[in-house]
Amino acid sequence: MANTETLERFFSYVDQNQEHYVTRLREAVAIPSVSSDADHREDVYRMGDWLIGLFKQLNISYEAAEPGTHVLDGKTLKLPPILLGTYGNDPNKKTILVYGHYDVQPALIEDGWRSDPWKLTEDSTGRLVGRGSSDDKGPIIGWLNAIEAHQKAGIEFPVNLKICFEGMEENESEGLDDLILREANRYFKGVDAVCISDNYWLGVTKPCLTYGLRGISYFKVTVSGPGRDLHSGVFGGTVYEPMTDLIILFSKLVTSDGKILIPGINDDVAELTDEEKETYKAIEFKIQDLQSAIESQTNLFDNETQTLQARWRYPSLSIHGIEGAFSAPGVKTVLPCKVSGKFSIRSVPNMDPDKVTACVEKYLKEEFAKLGSKNKLNIESLHGAKAWVSSPNHWNFVAAAKAVEKVFKCKPDLTREGGSIPVTLTFQDALNKNVLLLPMGRGDDGAHSTNEKLDRSNYIQGIKLLGTYLHEVAAVKST
Ligand code: BES
Ligand code: ZN
Repeated sequence: MANTETLERFFSYVDQNQEHYVTRLREAVAIPSVSSDADHREDVYRMGDWLIGLFKQLNISYEAAEPGTHVLDGKTLKLPPILLGTYGNDPNKKTILVYGHYDVQPALIEDGWRSDPWKLTEDSTGRLVGRGSSDDKGPIIGWLNAIEAHQKAGIEFPVNLKICFEGMEENESEGLDDLILREANRYFKGVDAVCISDNYWLGVTKPCLTYGLRGISYFKVTVSGPGRDLHSGVFGGTVYEPMTDLIILFSKLVTSDGKILIPGINDDVAELTDEEKETYKAIEFKIQDLQSAIESQTNLFDNETQTLQARWRYPSLSIHGIEGAFSAPGVKTVLPCKVSGKFSIRSVPNMDPDKVTACVEKYLKEEFAKLGSKNKLNIESLHGAKAWVSSPNHWNFVAAAKAVEKVFKCKPDLTREGGSIPVTLTFQDALNKNVLLLPMGRGDDGAHSTNEKLDRSNYIQGIKLLGTYLHEVAAVKST
């Protein structure tokens, strides 16, 4: 185990170099690496190059795997490289694989950002505001900062590190699963455990270790009819309107209080055992944490356990948007000829994505038939990933818990999460190794939302946490 003196030296080096780390994060946030927008693809490549520059600076050897091409907005585009770094190759040390993503969600100032989303801005309470600050640039740079701090402070690195950073996580991780399966016995060979820092604390004060994620099934439902957009004054009342049909269909998916109306969706949900019920009691979470994260009091439940269960262990259905609908300000009296609505279902153990798709298709077709409309219905399943649950008793988690105690002087909560990181299950299954989620940011960071932030203290303490985890995982008995 790393002695206290070594860790203190590491901590004090990190504290003294705060500004350097913030500047580094600022540089990364300034690159708008939005993977879901063809116009930003160059920026995603640029972000990959920026990381490669850092790899070189830190003597991390790397391969930049090119996963091929895909079609986005009708354009064939090169997928961003998957960076595979290797730091250390000592047969006497454990090998830890860390994963993260360098792409980000879109961000437009007019959506309600208080500052330019691509300019990391620190407010008076130490919040570093900018797109990707928490999801996931802060954490991935955190790993690299920890390496640098060891080098500069003259501390031996405790493990061999494999680093897998991708640039397509926010866009279904295209190409990643294939690469992992292909490389399982080459690049990923010898990995002892996996750690992903791409989620958040439950609240705003206490760190957690996460051992479960929900899966996701994403659907696009298109209703089309007329050959072109029509004037509602001329044709309204004389044609079957695609938008009307779509809205009626979507109104049958879920109730306002979150109950999914599609038959069969809830059938396979894992039973809530007494043992699982017990686990919620220990968790520090208040409805106010939720309210502060959603910046409102529009929570469905007033009860903490019910809220956590709804987020972690029951499915939910969310409606995301409608392509082709009139969305500009003003009173355009158009009658759109083709509209595509998008929704997704977050799935839980033991749901099967194929069955979810079958239930959705059957139900929507039946409900559409009931309308007696002459329009056409098309249902596409855009993405399907299973839920993941792991064992928080594994030595990987034990080491992380010790690291939390050393850095934060408290025991972490053991949590599951409502979001999805599909590669988690791929790593677990393809490498047959334990995967741990070790978050850096807080529950109110606003990932995917306006004014996403990472608190300076979470960033700096997070760098210490990731480094200390590597010391603890090196020392823990792996049997
Ligand atoms: N960092 C999130 C995953 C996450 C979200 C973890 C919430 C814990 C809580 C990740 O970047 C993400 O947003 N993933 C997508 C995956 C999807 C595109 C397949 C998600 O959950 O929507
Ligand atoms: Zn993320």
